[in-house]
Amino acid sequence: MKLAWATDVHLDHLTPFGRARCAEALRASGCDAVVLTGDLSQAPLLCVHLEELARALARPVYFVLGNHDFYEGSIVEVRAAVRELCAREAWLHYLPDAGPIPLDDESVLVGVDGFGDGRLGRVIETPIVLNDHLLVRELAGLPRVHLAARLAELGDAEARALEALLARVGAARRVVVATHVPPFRESTWHDGAPSDDDWLPFFSCHSVGEVLRAHVEAWPSRSLTVLCGHTHGAGVAFMDERLVVHTGAAEYGEIAIAGVLDTSCATFL
Ligand SMILES: [Fe+2]
Ligand SMILES: [Fe+2]
Repeated sequence: MKLAWATDVHLDHLTPFGRARCAEALRASGCDAVVLTGDLSQAPLLCVHLEELARALARPVYFVLGNHDFYEGSIVEVRAAVRELCAREAWLHYLPDAGPIPLDDESVLVGVDGFGDGRLGRVIETPIVLNDHLLVRELAGLPRVHLAARLAELGDAEARALEALLARVGAARRVVVATHVPPFRESTWHDGAPSDDDWLPFFSCHSVGEVLRAHVEAWPSRSLTVLCGHTHGAGVAFMDERLVVHTGAAEYGEIAIAGVLDTSCATFL
């Protein structure tokens, strides 16, 4: 199967013509299906933009959500709205709910949103304040210590969700894992290098990374290909010969396909 991957498409930064071009670029890749690794839009327009894209693509669209998708809304409410949308729009599949998706005889796709969980770097001392901390209802206005605790809780929930999905992949030899936030320090590419300790708390989901590491150790015949975004910088982190993390590039207001994956051999075309 040919799986086209795009990340951080930020459809709210595109004009209607730009959004149509985005769909056309994905269609023109000749893919059988599309995977989107979050930051698709912002809460008020997310469902409108997702439905528009799915109808233009007319093929399965598998996706996870990123931090921007919760802006001007709440995590709980956005996820609920997306679930409702997926129940009536057949092309759309929210991966945390959809379960493992068979791609071919030996490969499956799973996905969780992930969230910068504050576990790497200097979450208390960093001077960085993200819009997440102002525009996402569950995080807005929290003092730093409470924010750190809330981020850790969010990361833990993502890790548990991924564990549950990986427990259901059966005998698959290859698993493609879609997630928004890079799971390892080495995968937080920004300007050609991993992020520094001020950005790392928000640019990595360490708890998801721990689940991925434990899984490859427990399953020696299985390889994991992780697709993520969030930092908008491209790079590949080889964590193990069976655990490779691809971080996709993105620019606000521009259209980019991060890659087209041949799932039969887990390589990019
Ligand atoms: Fe983004
Ligand atoms: Fe993001």
